[in-house]
Amino acid sequence: MATSSCRFYHRIVTYTCLHGILAFLAPLVGFTIFVVSHHDSSCGKKAEEEILLGGRLTTGVVRLGDTVRRPVSSSSPFVARLLTHLAKRGFEGAPRYLGRDEHNRDILSYIHGWVLASFQQFEHDQIWCAGQLLQRFHAATAGTDLVNQGQVICHHDPGPNNVVFQEGTPRAFIDFDMAGPADPLEDIGYMAWTWCVSSRPDRGPCEFQAEQVRLLSDAYRLTVDDRRKIVDAIMTQQERNVHFWRTYLSGEATPLNSLSRETIQHRIDWTRRERAYTRTNRPVFERALT
Ligand SMILES: Nc1ncnc2c1ncn2[C@@H]1O[C@H](COP(=O)(O)OP(=O)(O)O)[C@@H](O)[C@H]1O
Ligand SMILES: [Mg+2]
Repeated sequence: MATSSCRFYHRIVTYTCLHGILAFLAPLVGFTIFVVSHHDSSCGKKAEEEILLGGRLTTGVVRLGDTVRRPVSSSSPFVARLLTHLAKRGFEGAPRYLGRDEHNRDILSYIHGWVLASFQQFEHDQIWCAGQLLQRFHAATAGTDLVNQGQVICHHDPGPNNVVFQEGTPRAFIDFDMAGPADPLEDIGYMAWTWCVSSRPDRGPCEFQAEQVRLLSDAYRLTVDDRRKIVDAIMTQQERNVHFWRTYLSGEATPLNSLSRETIQHRIDWTRRERAYTRTNRPVFERALT
């Protein structure tokens, strides 16, 4: 889910079978490189696992060769179905699902490129490509068995931190743990917020941000009716983000070892500020969209 932090690309290299412990320790020590040897009994060679940091929730995501290994979760069966479906449809904007490994981790294809560690201001063409990517993803799921009553499968966390960029262009979504049937406006609202809207002065005037929300709508080929709903959709996603993080503070959700209560509270406060900013500037966004 959404968060704010410093701006730089992340990519940490390590060799380990102790990835769980190191993934927990790594955020505490910044971007130090850990080196631990790991004997892989299956091939008799030293395997190299690279801890992939920058995620928000999952401890133990690693790269092994051209694959990513992710601890199995309750969403794994659905994500496996979804990624298998997307592969059959020839959708290139998601990893391939490749099965389970001997450590009960999902195996996904590794998508080469960069994942941003933080939200930032984007160029217009990056916003355009992100909007098209989302539209293609939704179109590839519309009307399928995966969707049931919903209109499409929403990613539900399509921030820049869950997209692989290649040469500056958003190319593929990762991290489908929250995916499920829903109204596409849920993803569009979340994307408009996390890619285009921010109260930070260095993110440009609100008119510029509103123009980018319009670009995103154009790239998605959003109907006139749906454009009128975007500001509400953004604010709904901001409310959901607050609710999401509050479940961790209240103990409803399983505690996250890697995040302190302070960090979670910071995310809640930040999201509330962003919501207030969106509400105050509603007329600016609406003018650009209609
Ligand atoms: N299929 C993939 N291809 C390339 N990098 C990936 C892939 N899956 C995950 N990553 C990297 O691992 C990091 C954490 O993965 P992610 O699935 O987003 O975990 P979290 O649930 O913690 O957010 C990402 O920020 C990204 O850098
Ligand atoms: Mg993620």
